[in-house]
Amino acid sequence: MAAVQQSDAPLASTTDEKPISNIVIVIAMQTEAQPVVNKFELIEDPNSPFPEGVPWVRYHGKFKGLNLNLIWPGKDPSSGVDSVGTISSALVTYAAIQSFKPDLIINAGTAGGFKARGASVGDIFIASDCAFHDRRIPIPVFDLYGVGSRKAFETPNLVKELNLKVAKLSTGDSLDMTPQDESSITANDATVKDMEGAAVAYVADLLKVPAIFVKAVTDIIDGDKPTAEEFLQNLAAVTSALDLAVEQVINFIDGKCISEL
Ligand code: ADE
Repeated sequence: MAAVQQSDAPLASTTDEKPISNIVIVIAMQTEAQPVVNKFELIEDPNSPFPEGVPWVRYHGKFKGLNLNLIWPGKDPSSGVDSVGTISSALVTYAAIQSFKPDLIINAGTAGGFKARGASVGDIFIASDCAFHDRRIPIPVFDLYGVGSRKAFETPNLVKELNLKVAKLSTGDSLDMTPQDESSITANDATVKDMEGAAVAYVADLLKVPAIFVKAVTDIIDGDKPTAEEFLQNLAAVTSALDLAVEQVINFIDGKCISEL
């Protein structure tokens, strides 16, 4: 089953009928990842299969019937801050799929939200679609490639059971938003804005692994507070909400097949 459910893609395959056993969770920031590592008592792998010298960190462990691999892209070697953004998230998603052959990828993290489209701080969203808002290529067809819109793997039972909001996600490599970004986000019909989702979706689609996106709102993009300030102010509280949501999602997935999500 592809991460993107294109109209000509098969709706189910035999692997969809086996209970999910291997999950890769991609989380960009240490503050977001650590509570999940603690909750599932995951252990850092000192001999991860990643190339020598990269900052990428693998935490792993078992939870009920699931093998969990949480991948954090680590600290940027030059600046020492979390390796947020599309490049690192695409690289670790690729490397993790190659190494761990997951049945499912979960990209979890924080996001900005538009109050005009129903988002509030602390809300948890499951993304129905992911697209880029900062890859403008105004040449026919390249424009569509730049936007790179992909459907996330649909999880109607999960969103119903956990009572989660569903909306479109727009991804770019900046925390702030230029007027051009804003027009593209509006064109993408997005309610939430992050810095990784569409990149993870791109790799998952290339390698035909279903991917879902769990995003917790730290800041209101169309509010009156400066984004960076509001983000930092709410980060700790919202990561608790994110961690709870990830726990509920993992609990729901345990014992189910892909087609039952
Ligand atoms: N992560 C949290 N808030 C964000 C925002 N406003 N834009 C992009 N990524 C974010």
